[in-house]
Amino acid sequence: MITPDILDAAMARALDIATRGPEGGPNPRVGCVILSPDGHTLAEGWHRGAGTAHAEVDALSHLAPGEARGATAVVTLEPCNHTGRTGPCAQALIAAGVAEVYFAVPDPGAVSSHGAQTLIDAGIPAQLGPRREEAEELLADWLREARRGRPTVTVKWATSLDGRAAAADGTSQWITGPDARADVHLERSRHDAIAVGTGTVLADDPALTARGEENGAPLSQPVPVVFGHREVPADAALRRHPRELITLSGDDLAADLEKLWKLGIRSVFVEGGPSLASSFIRAGFADRILVYIAPTLIGGPKLALTDLGVGTITDQHRLSITDVRHLGSDLRLTAEPAPPQPQDPTPSTQPTPGAN
Ligand SMILES: NC(=O)c1ccc[n+]([C@@H]2O[C@H](COP(=O)([O-])OP(=O)(O)OC[C@H]3O[C@@H](n4cnc5c(N)ncnc54)[C@H](OP(=O)(O)O)[C@@H]3O)[C@@H](O)[C@H]2O)c1
Repeated sequence: MITPDILDAAMARALDIATRGPEGGPNPRVGCVILSPDGHTLAEGWHRGAGTAHAEVDALSHLAPGEARGATAVVTLEPCNHTGRTGPCAQALIAAGVAEVYFAVPDPGAVSSHGAQTLIDAGIPAQLGPRREEAEELLADWLREARRGRPTVTVKWATSLDGRAAAADGTSQWITGPDARADVHLERSRHDAIAVGTGTVLADDPALTARGEENGAPLSQPVPVVFGHREVPADAALRRHPRELITLSGDDLAADLEKLWKLGIRSVFVEGGPSLASSFIRAGFADRILVYIAPTLIGGPKLALTDLGVGTITDQHRLSITDVRHLGSDLRLTAEPAPPQPQDPTPSTQPTPGAN
């Protein structure tokens, strides 16, 4: 008999083993414990990353045929219903003959969800179990991305103290110092894709590789993406990137992000230039803004951003600063869109005494 205490302990264990899976990437970290009808653990499983068995299938693989009959499956995420690179977990649980399923968090994914309904339709009670808050915390990034249905976007730029991203002739290498640039390489490696516009490709010929090491291992290489209609030159450094280049028109950023999402890309690092960065912000797709500010003055026309569609001050894009760091002689600021504020009172048309 599965008592609430046994169920709670099994879910705690499932959450614990879920953390053995890799952080980041397109797939969630999931753990599964299979209990016998008298509450003993028969098998455990967890998901080891994209393309490998899901937690339920991994757990079932440790059991002999028929051994899971009448068992209770305790999973941190609603079993999936979708045939991706591995089969649907709901079907695997039905085929194994489990008697009931508890999961901590419903799956918000458009294609993978409704596994619980499939189980119920097959006569297997599938319901929310304990520890939802903990499971939501473990899966926070993945759930946020799954609910959005598009990759998370970080827009990054490097700027002088007076907000310039390049000199008048278009040269911008380098505004910031080596510490800031090393940090950019780390940030690149933490995203699935790096994106630039054709303007930057033609002006800077960037390699868009993540160079350096983390914990003694070479940084992982995100996929390079170029937005624009102009051709990436045959001899561009990008053509020698270890990952295959993706080119997108940029005419419809929502559709382009959806294409990247369907390719399994869950995070995009937009490295400019000013036109592309501004388009992402204007369209409301900049989930995180990362700015490296160097103590230098450039002046002139090459601003870090172009038109953000702000015709009047009430339309400005308000942000919250979430992190501030010194990197050598530069500053790194992280900001996110601020939650909507209550409307300011209508500004007075009377000049304030002493104001200028
Ligand atoms: N300081 C920094 O952080 C930094 C970073 C990058 C670049 N830069 C500097 O920025 C300058 C280049 O600026 P840029 O604004 O021309 O570069 P960009 O933003 O990289 O490229 C703009 C081009 O991208 C294409 N594009 C595709 N979809 C777009 C969309 N939705 N919105 C806007 N553009 C889209 C268009 O080209 P098509 O005509 O091909 O469609 C557009 O002309 C260079 O001087 C470079 O050195 C500075």
